[in-house]
Formats: sequence, C-alpha cells, structure tokens
Amino acid sequence: MFKRFRRLRINPVLRDLVQEIRLDINDFIYPLFVRNGEGVKNEIASMPGVYQMSIDEILKECEELKSLGLKAVILFGIPDTKDSVGSEALCEHGIIARAVRAIKETHPDMFVVTDLCFCEYTDHGHCGVLDPKLQTVDNDSTLTLLAEQAIVHAKAGADMIAPSGMMDGMITAIRARLDEAGFSHIPIMSYSTKFASSYYGPFRDVAESAPSFGDRRSYQMNPANRREAILESIEDETEGADILMVKPALAYLDIVRDIREASMLPLAVYNVSGEYSMLKMAARAGVIDYERVMMETLLGFKRAGADIIITYHAKEAAKLL
Ligand code: PBG
Ligand code: ZN
Repeated sequence: MFKRFRRLRINPVLRDLVQEIRLDINDFIYPLFVRNGEGVKNEIASMPGVYQMSIDEILKECEELKSLGLKAVILFGIPDTKDSVGSEALCEHGIIARAVRAIKETHPDMFVVTDLCFCEYTDHGHCGVLDPKLQTVDNDSTLTLLAEQAIVHAKAGADMIAPSGMMDGMITAIRARLDEAGFSHIPIMSYSTKFASSYYGPFRDVAESAPSFGDRRSYQMNPANRREAILESIEDETEGADILMVKPALAYLDIVRDIREASMLPLAVYNVSGEYSMLKMAARAGVIDYERVMMETLLGFKRAGADIIITYHAKEAAKLL
C-alpha cells in the first residue's frame, strides 16, 4: 500500500480546491521613496522599476496603486540636508511630514505607514545619534528622538508607524510618547527582528542611507542567531508592538515560522531590496521566468507564516492576481 498524492493533482479545479494558502492583494504594502522637488522620478540603477519621487509624482503613483487595488504604502524620506542628529526628521516641514500630509489630503483612503529611523537623515548614516566614545549609536538618547519623530509622523496623519532602527526599548518609548500626545489609536508595526544584512545594499542606493563608516552590526541582529531572533520579536510584543516583522524575508523563512508560532500577533515580512534586485537581474540575464519566480517567492512568505508582505513587487503581483 502507498498513498496516491497525485490523485488530487491531476484536475486543475481540484488542485485549486485543495490549495492551502493564497496570495491576496490585501497582503501587500508597497514602499515609496520621497524627495524634494517637482516632477522628479529617478529610477535607481540597482533597482529597476523603483524610483525616488517628488511629492507630486508620489500623488500620481498613489492613484496608480489604487487602480491596481493596492491600498497601503510605506514611506521613506530622502532629505535635502543631513546633520549629526537627523534634524530634518524632527521637523514638521520635513520631507516625510509633507509627503504624508499631501497623500492623506489627496488620497484619504490610502493607508500610509511611515518608516521611523534616522539613517536617511544623519550625515554619518547610522540609525540614531552617535556615542563619541563607542563610535556607534547611543541607544537611550536615540529613544527620545525616535519618540519625537513618531509624533511628527502622527501629527502629519500617518496611519501606522514602523520603527526600523533596532534600538532596545524603542517600542516602549514610542508607545508612551504617542499615548501621552493623544495618539493611542495609532498602531506600531515594529521591525522587531531585523538582521544586519547585505541584502539591503540596493535600498541604500535609493534611500541614500549607507553608513559613512562601520556597519550596523552593533544594533541589527547577527544572521546566525535563531533564539535571539525570537526573543527580539517577543520583547517588542511585550513592549506593546501591534504587528511584528522579520526582515529580510527570503533567507530567514525559518525565523518567520518560529515567530509565527511564538506569537499570536500579526506578522509582516520585508521582502528587501537585494531580494527584489536579484530577481530583476536574473530576469534581465534571461535565466528565469520572472513572473513565476516572483509569485512563487511571495507565496513562500505566506506559507512560512507572514500575514503582511512589504514588497517592491507589489504592483507587478497585483497585476497578476
Ligand atoms: C532603515 C531601513 C533599511 C531598510 C528599511 N529601513 C535599511 C538599513 O537598515 O540599512 C531596508 C529595506 C530594503 O533593503 O529594501 N533603517
Ligand atoms: Zn535606519
């Protein structure tokens, strides 16, 4: 006796009937990069199809996203000026605050998530203020500034705030500050388990956020650590995060599954820039069927346990769904 698994695979209708999970257009969050100017739409060589855009172009893009059925974006800002503390991120007239206001005014139905970090705004490119002795980010003084930046985003009208800096205690600090400022209704999606990954390379071209010295290994996680990856996310849950995240996605699907099983909170994956670019470049080289590989990849995130997929592929996937 042996089991005939193929019985359920022969008829395509039956194949669909027994399919366990499905990608859904409502799963996606699409990243947008906003900078000053008018009519600016710069494609980034390392990320074909991804642009730095001025606010007017972002508004047109939101129109297109809605027509494709996409309802959520995550915003990254590219400021004109950078300094040691990332002042532009704390200014109500900074690029992100203006972009959020403009989007919510023109497209109130677009769900706007803001990435909350300092690496795009500091002249040294690290994710917070530096401790001069340690030559790395000072955790606790950065917490105060992250909480301030969260208020700027919330006042501008952000629907959800997504802290990505991997500072210890960031969720506690941001939640407390939001609550006392009257924003207890604004959810926090924490980049709760974020690895120090070389897959972020192309993103740093788009966001102009590469560190000017050193790397991010003193705050982002060691890719080798599984138990610590779970602890990081559980800690953010305890501190009050509403949604957890694993980032990058593809090389960390075991971690996605682990956290799915360790927490009852919704879980996001960030399908990062390097993962996107690998598929784009392989397609260019003619070595893969791009659309099929893309859909198979996105399906893998969902099967591993993700509820939400942050991906540069969202528009292309939406067209196929
Ligand atoms: C900023 C941030 C990064 C990404 C999202 N938010 C880069 C980094 O940590 O250097 C990466 C996204 C991507 O690679 O697509 N903290
Ligand atoms: Zn950062």
